[in-house]
Amino acid sequence: MIKVLFVCLGNICRSPTAEAVLRSMAKQQGITVDVDSAGTAAYHIGKSPDSRSQQVALKRGISMVGQSARQVMPDDFYDFDYIFAMDKSNYQDLQSIKPANASAQLALFLNEYGTMNTGEVPDPYYGGNSGFEWVLDLLEDACEQFLKTKVVS
Ligand code: 4NP
Repeated sequence: MIKVLFVCLGNICRSPTAEAVLRSMAKQQGITVDVDSAGTAAYHIGKSPDSRSQQVALKRGISMVGQSARQVMPDDFYDFDYIFAMDKSNYQDLQSIKPANASAQLALFLNEYGTMNTGEVPDPYYGGNSGFEWVLDLLEDACEQFLKTKVVS
């Protein structure tokens, strides 16, 4: 089974949303994927996803209940097949802690997947609801393509 870890800064907005979107989409398609998320920073360890992320996801039928923030750790580079960064800064932070013999493939998620050509999932934390909707739009688009191209049911 493919194991995917999504990583952002706080692990309360973007990467837990990516986790929930991919899990929900895979389930609907009868595909099993092992999916998790983490943050490069430690500020929000143990917290539930941001309520704005939860509300926007729930409007689209995606539950984030039971998810809680954790920090990414070097072992993740051996435990997962793919580690997907949400933005360039997350990617650079991950590069800097990636063990030399890591087995996981590290990539900027929207560089590899999706049709919106934004390259990054922008941080919605300090903005309004439209930023959270946009995060969902980008992630649904990219997760759909990821499942189509990478995962065999
Ligand atoms: P995330 O968003 O990286 O998508 O979870 C953020 C959450 C919290 C903060 C920044 C970004 N913060 O500065 O506390």
